[in-house]
Amino acid sequence: MTHLELLKDVWYVGYVDFEVRNFHGYSTHRGTSYNAYIVKSGDKTVLIDTVKRPYFEYYLDKIKHVCDPAEIDYLIMDHIEMDHSGSFPLILKHLPNAEIITSVRGVDVLKSHFHQEIDAEVFDRIRTVKNGDTLDIGHGKKFTFVPIPMIHWPDSMVAFMSDDNGKNILFSSDAFGQHIATTMRWDDENDMCEIMEEAEKYYANILLHLSGLIAKTLPVVGALPIDVVCTAHGVCWRKNIPEILEKYRKWSSGEIEGKSVIIVYDTMWESTAKIAKALTKEIRHRGIPVKRFRLTQADYSDVITEVMKAKAILIGSPTLNNGLYPSVAEYLCYQRGLKPMNKVGLAFGSYGWSGQAAQEIADQMKAAGIDVMDELIKIKFVPKAEDLDFKDIVDKLIEKMK
Ligand code: FEO
Repeated sequence: MTHLELLKDVWYVGYVDFEVRNFHGYSTHRGTSYNAYIVKSGDKTVLIDTVKRPYFEYYLDKIKHVCDPAEIDYLIMDHIEMDHSGSFPLILKHLPNAEIITSVRGVDVLKSHFHQEIDAEVFDRIRTVKNGDTLDIGHGKKFTFVPIPMIHWPDSMVAFMSDDNGKNILFSSDAFGQHIATTMRWDDENDMCEIMEEAEKYYANILLHLSGLIAKTLPVVGALPIDVVCTAHGVCWRKNIPEILEKYRKWSSGEIEGKSVIIVYDTMWESTAKIAKALTKEIRHRGIPVKRFRLTQADYSDVITEVMKAKAILIGSPTLNNGLYPSVAEYLCYQRGLKPMNKVGLAFGSYGWSGQAAQEIADQMKAAGIDVMDELIKIKFVPKAEDLDFKDIVDKLIEKMK
């Protein structure tokens, strides 16, 4: 076995990106990888996915360690977002004989992305596949294609390879991925706490708002007789497949363990901070777990991951220029797109004269689908000790969380 060989007849030809710290706005503290694979059956050679364009040369070099690219019979494109398709026009020049396999929606996205770079003739080499279509590559190896719309785009599909003489592999595209850079390709070769933490953050920041569709698709994918999962990002799964499937079931259903609270705020002259701290104290006194984030010192991607797991979210802002503090406005915009499920909300803030911030927070939380309390906490300028008595409102919050 070479260092690229994952399993008998299956090679890793992706790129591990240790440097990236921002993936289209999502913080990647541990980097990521753009995974691609080669499968050989003896009769046929299949390349699965490409990599982000800046890493094309590394990808090509790995492919050449496995085979002559001209020998590749099929290129399967599971998903056309640029982190997996960016090298498509470049690798085509090395694949004179390959048929390209993608979903019906995938062809549209390929055309939309690469119309200026590839010849129209390329589109004659594309085979579109629908749910249940198969590709038999001989010697007991057969791919079955299953759409997974909105995990992560409408074009997304998985390629399930059954193997009479080896492992059944789910090439899962974005599903079950994690943004983590590691040279160890299998889940059990890594720290599982780190892997699960990154799988959770990935779900919260990329897939959370698509949970309804994911909940419908998951049983279909989960029913396949999978031995291993080869993801498009992060590690492949061979030991913890039931665990990651169960996590996806839980996250996509909006199921929440316990009754923890997240407080998210920002502050100009510490008045809103005083409210946030007093609320923290009152909630903590009830024995309820509570975490607090000041937005100019916190990372939105980390905050939304905590929010996904919490039962209640309390958001505070001072009123600035008749509106929200900029960091709070930005966070609310991010949260509204991701639509965290099954949350109770409460808005708070300090003000000097006009005091619109708390109501704007409440409105934006409602727009995100959060069950917001009618009461607002609004305190003029610097709070007095009696202003910070939140026993009654925390009682109501806890009642609403039941
Ligand atoms: Fe990893 Fe939706 O691309």
